[in-house]
Formats: sequence, C-alpha cells, structure tokens
Amino acid sequence: MKITDTSDVWWKTAVVYCLDVETFMDWNDDGCGDFEGLAQRLDYLAELGVTCLWLMPFYPTADVDDGYDITDFYGVDPRLGTHGDLVEVVRTANDRGMRVIADLVVNHTSNKHPWFRSAESSIDSPYRDFYVWRSDPPPDTSSEVVFPDKENSIWQLSEKTGEWYLHRFYRQQPDLNVTDPKVRDEIAKAMGFWLELGLSGFRMDAVPFLLETSGTDRAEARRLPDPHEFLRQLRSFVGRRTGSGVLLGEVNLPHPQQAQFFGGENGNELTMLFDFLSMQYLYLSLARADAGPLAQALTARPKVSPDNQWATFVRNHDELTLDKLSDAEREAVFAAFGPDPSMQVYGRGLRRRLPPMLDGDPRRIRMAYSLLFSLPGTPVLFYGEEIGMGEDLDLEGRMAVRTPMQWTSGVNGGFSRAPKRRLRRPVVSGGYGPEHVNVADQRTDPDSLLSFMKLLIRRYRECPELGWGEFELLDQPHADVLAHQCRWEDGTMVAVHNLGAEPRSVPLTLDGCDSTHRLEDLLQDGSTPLSDKGKAELRLEGYGYRWLRVTSADSRRLV
Ligand code: GLC
Repeated sequence: MKITDTSDVWWKTAVVYCLDVETFMDWNDDGCGDFEGLAQRLDYLAELGVTCLWLMPFYPTADVDDGYDITDFYGVDPRLGTHGDLVEVVRTANDRGMRVIADLVVNHTSNKHPWFRSAESSIDSPYRDFYVWRSDPPPDTSSEVVFPDKENSIWQLSEKTGEWYLHRFYRQQPDLNVTDPKVRDEIAKAMGFWLELGLSGFRMDAVPFLLETSGTDRAEARRLPDPHEFLRQLRSFVGRRTGSGVLLGEVNLPHPQQAQFFGGENGNELTMLFDFLSMQYLYLSLARADAGPLAQALTARPKVSPDNQWATFVRNHDELTLDKLSDAEREAVFAAFGPDPSMQVYGRGLRRRLPPMLDGDPRRIRMAYSLLFSLPGTPVLFYGEEIGMGEDLDLEGRMAVRTPMQWTSGVNGGFSRAPKRRLRRPVVSGGYGPEHVNVADQRTDPDSLLSFMKLLIRRYRECPELGWGEFELLDQPHADVLAHQCRWEDGTMVAVHNLGAEPRSVPLTLDGCDSTHRLEDLLQDGSTPLSDKGKAELRLEGYGYRWLRVTSADSRRLV
C-alpha cells in the first residue's frame, strides 16, 4: 500500500456529507430547496473539505416517507429541478474534487408507482410478481414493523384482488420481490442509468430487507437460493460500469451479519457499511462518561477486506436508533440525552441532533466530533452538523432533524426567499435558530464550530492512517478516557479523548518508540517528547481531546 492508493480506493479516506436537496438551498423562491441552490453551495461544501456528497432521494415521490417512496426510479422530482440540473451539480461537484452518490431505495416502491398500480389491479398483471403477495390472512406481525407508531402489520390487504402484499415500512411502500429476475434486472438498469449520469455509487437503503425473501413462496425463493448473490452481482455491475463506484449500505445488524454483507473475506458485496453499533455505543459511552462501551464496539468489529470500509457517524437523517443496546443501556442514553417522551420515537431512538443533546456545551460537542473524525473509518456528516444545528420537536417524528439548512441570520435562515408559510419545512426557532446558528457568521469566526470542523476534516484527510490503518487501543488508567492509535505504513496517529468532566493526566506507552520520537499535536500548537521507553504523560481538560502524530528525527511527514 502506498499514499497514491488513497486515490484509487478513495472511499477509505473520504468525508461524506448527506443532504436533502429540498431542505438545503432554495434558488427559485418557491420554498423548496433545488438543484440550482445546491449548485450555488458546492463551493461552501468544497471549502468545508467534503469529498463525497450523498443526496437523499430526489426522485418523483408520493411523499409519504419524505422521498423514500419513489414513483419513478428514473425521474427527478420536478420541485427540485431537472435531470439537466442534477448533471450540472454532479459535474461542478466533480470539478471541486467532490464525488456524488445518491440514495438507492429499491427494497420497495411507492404504492403509486406504475408497477404497483398494475400489480394490484389484477393477479394476471405482468407486474404482479414484482411484489410479494399472500392469499391467506396473515398472522400477527406487529413485532416486525419498522414504524410501530403507524403500522401494526407487515401485510396490507389490497381490496382489488383480495390478497395481502408485504411492506416492511409504511403500507404505502410495497416491498419489491427480488426473487423475480425481472425485478433484479430493473434495479441494475436504474443503477446503470444514474451511474451513466455521473454518480459515483449509491447509499443503499434498507439492504437486509431488500435481500429478505421470506414471505415469498417456496418456488419463488428457489429462484434466488442465496440472496447475497444478488448483492455480489450488483457490486460487480457497479465496478464494471464505473471502476470506482461504491455501495454504502444501511445494514443495522450484529457484527457477524455485517461481515456477511461486506462479502466476508472476499469483500465483494457492499463496499462500505455504516457502523451502527459503534454509533450506539458511542452514545452510551458519552452518557456514562465511560469509554468502555465504545472501545468494545470498535475492537469487536469484524475484520474486513482491505478494499472495504466502515462509515462512522454520530447522527443521520433518521432516529438516533438505540435498538442494539440492552433496555438498561437504552434507558441510560434516554435519561442523559432525551428524557422527555417527545424527544423519543418508536421506543428505540431519539429524534434530536447532537448539540441540544449535549446541552449546547461547546467542549462536549467538539470532543464528540473530534472523536468521530479520529475513529478508524470514513466519517459521514448530516447537513448542518458542521454548524451545530438543533432540531424542531414540533415536527412529526424523524422530520425533527430535517429542517432547512441555516445559511444566514436573515429571513428563513437564508434558505429561501419564499414567504414563511410556503417553506418545505419550518426553520428551527429559539436558541438553535438562525440568529444564533448559521453559516455566514461562523465562516468568518476562527473560533466557530464550523472552523473547528474544517480543521478536523483537514487533519483527517492528512492522516490516511485513520482510514487505512490498524486500530489499537492504548492502555491507560482512566475509565472516562479513550486513547487509541492508528498505524499505517510508517505513520502513527494517536488520539486521546476525555469523555468526562474532570481534567485527566494520561500516561501512555507507545510500542516501538523511544526518545528519538516526539508527539506532535495536530489540533493545537505544541509537541510532547517521549522517554527512552516510549512513555509520555498527556494532559487533558475536562472533555478535552488531542490528536498527535508520532514523528522521529528523520521523519519527512509535514505536521
Ligand atoms: C431507511 C431510510 C429511512 C426510510 C426507510 C424506508 O431506513 O434511512 O429514512 O424511511 O429506509 O425507505
């Protein structure tokens, strides 16, 4: 491996930024964000240091699930612009050094999709088999629904033919039947279309549900005896069409199954997987001021092939799910970060953004992001995290965190010039409103969260150890401190984070180091000498953090 490999295997050191075009920037004053608005903000994203944009669904939609119920896999929602506008964005992003990936939502379609309209019209429809049907009354499946506040069965009776269809999510999102080879062909064809327009891959939605073939009858299931074969085919298809396209999968499952979705040691299925487990244990660690749970989650990650990667994150567009924690652990996180029932959703998650959960304490917020960027993997940000946006709990469910981007302290936070009542979603008000939290003010303030995030991103990009290296926990005596190192080639990067409020003095011993080495601070000025035996004592404030590069006298790395 060498430094130039980081360009071929770009996703291992990328900085991914997720945004929804409709809430990012409105350029035609209709209250809804659009591709033209996004194009105007690409320089901002490049300046932030983003290298890959992840666009949430921009396709025509019946809008029951905020765009995740698609009516045309080849279209662009006219409220956002045209195919031409999308291509302009992709091309301009590429020019600024950013790739673009998009949500691929193919576990289901909208019930308004022409395939489903045809399928439900008659059992003889040529599209009938695109979906999963049963003719006998379904058993109780209330424990299997994803959205328990709205659904109590994964089967919905379709009056027209008197049969039930499968839907894992809302009833308006009938599941596609991937045992039908025609469905698999259609999925690949749609992917090929967007790749041809310049996308660099996809964030694949709900992958375990996509592969699931239960509910299909036995003869159907026999057509796809190993559903993972379908993922292998898609990965190789993307590779053939683009060379370096990626599949970033939403697979919130325990480690052994995650390993399978990577394709095991062959690494020939999903390129990247979100690290849902580390995310959940990170919150437990923050809640308890105990680095143990996070350390354990990181060390328990299955080993993945060198081409694969974990995508790390602290927040996304959905609920902050805590489904993999025990009841007591989940309660501890709820108590710390969302005690009010209005802050919780589905009995398993929080619908808040990070800064309000940390009581707006700048030390804790910065420590949490410093930790995120120092973890082994590829960091993924959700728009607005870089400026510390908050949520609007008056909005329905997960929409609380999907409010318009806050650009200025002006009207509608600079998101749109339309009258307030016409906005796609209201702008956050109160302490996290645009008067207090916005891009324009933070851009010119060297002490702002935005400036700090730029520094983290730059340092992350300069430390390919973080994306590529071997992760190792470093022994030290404090339960509330996480000390770790990532080593790659001749580089070693050490990160130390204090999850607790008390200042700590952290003794470290670095294997293979002696007094010819030093620890150079990467987030502040200064450096620390190492003893003959490679020992050093690092001081951390309460919620303090340090990133340090191990250098030796003959090191040619720039600090
Ligand atoms: C994924 C998305 C979520 C969506 C669901 C159904 O979980 O992240 O936002 O509602 O799939 O498509």
